[in-house]
Amino acid sequence: MSGLKIGVLASGSGSNLQALIDARLKDEIKSEVSCVLCNKEDAYCLTRAKKHQIPHYFIDTKKENSDKLILALFEKHQVDFVILAGYLKKISKEILAVYKGRMINIHPSLLPKYGGKGYYGLAIHKAVLASKDKETGATVHYVDEEVDTGKIILQRKTQVKAGEEASALQQRVLQEVEHPLLIEAVQKIEREGLS
Ligand code: GRF
Repeated sequence: MSGLKIGVLASGSGSNLQALIDARLKDEIKSEVSCVLCNKEDAYCLTRAKKHQIPHYFIDTKKENSDKLILALFEKHQVDFVILAGYLKKISKEILAVYKGRMINIHPSLLPKYGGKGYYGLAIHKAVLASKDKETGATVHYVDEEVDTGKIILQRKTQVKAGEEASALQQRVLQEVEHPLLIEAVQKIEREGLS
């Protein structure tokens, strides 16, 4: 499958977005980010998009037409598939009706462990440590009607280090596991298509 156009939905710093941008620049993936939509006006992911001349938009998801705006922008930028790269809003039925099967999410745990309501950010890594899990990791999965429950595409594990603090674990999982796993998932989709 040749390079696809990726629409990114993000809410935060955008390091996963940056991993996609860098992978394209290093020719590790053929697909390119054609637009970035963010529900936080001052989120750094929008700055990252701007630096790389990628069309980027703040979407006020409190407005009732936000779903229609998201769909219109994805169509305008010819989005083939959507990546939730740290997007903290549940995807509506309206958007899923168009992109189900063409929308993936990256989550910083070995789903189904530590997924769903309340499991985002530091809370995930605190739960891993509280459970004294020996390993953790990240998951890339298709998005479905619930949160963090779609068909798993890839997972990658890492050992929890003795005495590791939650914030250090969060950063390590983000850098060492999530970023390469997301690129691996895009490469898999480029090879095998979206299923
Ligand atoms: C990542 O841990 C991602 O898995 C989670 O939110 C975080 C976003 O990080 N959903 P960033 O905005 O990509 O740096």
